[in-house]
Amino acid sequence: MDSILVTGNGALSGSIPIAGAKNACLALMPATLLSEEPLTLLNAPRLSDIRTMTQLLQSLGAEVSALQDGKVIAMSGHGVDNPLAHYDIVRKMRASNLVLGPLLARLGEAQVSLPGGCAIGARPMDIHVTALEQLGAVIDLRDGYLHAKAPAGLKGAEITLRFASVGATENTVMAATLAKGTTVLKNAAREPEIVDLVKCLRAMGAQIEGEGTSTIVIDGVDRLHGATHRVVTDRIELGTYMIAPVIAGGEVELLGGEIALVEALCEKLDAAGVAIEQTNAGLKVRRKNGRIQAVDVRTEVFPGFPTDLQAQMMALMCTAEGTCVLEETIFENRFMHAPELMRMGARIEVAGGTAKVTGVERLKGAPVMATDLRASVSLILAGLAAEGETLVNRVYHLDRGYEQVEQKLSAVGARIERVQGQ
Ligand code: UD1
Repeated sequence: MDSILVTGNGALSGSIPIAGAKNACLALMPATLLSEEPLTLLNAPRLSDIRTMTQLLQSLGAEVSALQDGKVIAMSGHGVDNPLAHYDIVRKMRASNLVLGPLLARLGEAQVSLPGGCAIGARPMDIHVTALEQLGAVIDLRDGYLHAKAPAGLKGAEITLRFASVGATENTVMAATLAKGTTVLKNAAREPEIVDLVKCLRAMGAQIEGEGTSTIVIDGVDRLHGATHRVVTDRIELGTYMIAPVIAGGEVELLGGEIALVEALCEKLDAAGVAIEQTNAGLKVRRKNGRIQAVDVRTEVFPGFPTDLQAQMMALMCTAEGTCVLEETIFENRFMHAPELMRMGARIEVAGGTAKVTGVERLKGAPVMATDLRASVSLILAGLAAEGETLVNRVYHLDRGYEQVEQKLSAVGARIERVQGQ
């Protein structure tokens, strides 16, 4: 298994292009199941999660090809005829569950394996299931699979999610596009990836209003047609690389970055002593002067501080002046990076869903273990600021969500290289 070797090398300078959003793309790809006609995605990120979704859609009968070195994904749902999302693929990636709503809407049935536990928490599917049942589906659990049926088609309904789940909102909106009548989805998630999905569905002929607010109204149509859609910028990759010049020093411009995508992060960075400037090309980020100040952070659903940036923020706070508390409210077990950061000299006390972090002057390089996608990158960020070498093991997590991380960081002066596994 490959590892990443980072050697603390001082200030960074230059620019980093930000890719299309992994989480948007993983919801946009299953939208191809809703139509017989071609759906083309531009600005797709080149990641192993995207290849997993490609494999899953192909197994359902969709045509999916990566063009222009993977930046364009050309799909067609013409041949979709298999309602079975097999455990062998679903267990690799939870986002596979996003085929449930579209398959039900298009084929009137779906059998989707439950994704199983994942490192950051239990992550059940009850919100997806309840919402789809309210649209008229009959769903039961057998042999580890959700067996869903809607023989007479789905029917629009008024649905209130018990929690603003991103995936449940995406599944329900996709299913409702082909339901009979109107669906009013309340307590819907408001993440930019949902707004992006709705834009694409609308380009395919869906009748949807209210995306980006907590009430989304969908008027079902008989069929959706083909479309070409550009994937929104990845706000998590953007936020991650915004932290790089803050932790390592220097100034970096994040190409394609927009403040609107990362407002909660900008607010915290501003309070910590970071200068952020919107330019024509993106966002320029640097420390104002002196050491970063400790700031408390609580993860929340959008527009609150994203859980997917919590680990990176913790790495930064490990080097800040003072003590702060990071509170994780979205996932129950998302501090696995804390003990790894402590191996690098960080002072962290975890108690349940909170972590108290007291900054140290300088982290020290160490061999560490990547435990999930965002944890991996937080260790790389910590390595940029550490004295000596940090070897991040088990980087397959990283390849799920960050394209060309070594190239992007080397281009701004970081000393980072991939060490091939045995
Ligand atoms: C998406 C993102 C992930 C991000 C998360 C929260 C994708 C592909 N992934 O994941 O990177 O960290 O949003 O911003 O877009 N829950 C239930 N029952 C359900 C569904 C969810 O209890 O039926 C719980 C989960 O266990 C979790 C919380 O709700 O604790 C948030 O989950 P959700 O918003 O659904 O996240 P995902 O869509 O899985």
